[in-house]
Amino acid sequence: MIAGSQPKSVSVDTGTRKFVKLWSLEDLLPLTAENLEDRDISNGRQAFTAASCFACHRVNGEGGSIGPDLSASMRRFSIRDFLEAVIEPSKVISDHYGVSVIRKTDGNQIYGNVVNYYGDAIGFQSDSLNAADILRIPRKDIVSLELSPISPMPPGLLSTLTREDILDLLAYLHYENPSTGNDD
Ligand code: HEC
Repeated sequence: MIAGSQPKSVSVDTGTRKFVKLWSLEDLLPLTAENLEDRDISNGRQAFTAASCFACHRVNGEGGSIGPDLSASMRRFSIRDFLEAVIEPSKVISDHYGVSVIRKTDGNQIYGNVVNYYGDAIGFQSDSLNAADILRIPRKDIVSLELSPISPMPPGLLSTLTREDILDLLAYLHYENPSTGNDD
């Protein structure tokens, strides 16, 4: 099956967009809430879409649920911590959203989530887009089962955005308001 690789949970569209820069925290900081005033919120929403964030994250009830809901994220995070979570996803993996890795006796590794324990096997979901597709892995084939140190969120997602796009994206999340959700 999937050997030694991350689950192909979501197709992240980077091929069709132009590479701008592999942003580091140092490139973008320092930033304060004042930098997010008078930004282009609808471009921010567009940047959020273009960088595939909606594939895995919900904002105001729309988007995917592979990662945490980001609706109130700018209230929970400082700008710095938010950017760090995006630029270095594996540094801190938020509770309940990590994946496990099963190492098998044949040398293969499978990433996913344990959904069931049977007497002689473990029910394992390794394709988050096909949640009903559960592998039944015999316990005798399993060498180890542990939490993966790698976040399901890929790094480098901001690399097709300009600095202006990134500031707009932050402003979009900072000022998002559940009562006004129809700006396309
Ligand atoms: C392939 C799915 C995927 C994509 C695409 C993705 N994320 Fe994530 N994201 C996750 C998962 C899963 C987590 C939780 C695990 C972790 O903390 O690394 C997460 C965590 C986060 C966190 C930390 C949230 C918390 O409550 O701890 C932030 C902030 C974040 N993502 C922002 C973004 C932004 C902004 C984008 C678009 C540039 C994005 N993500 C794209 C899956 C994704």
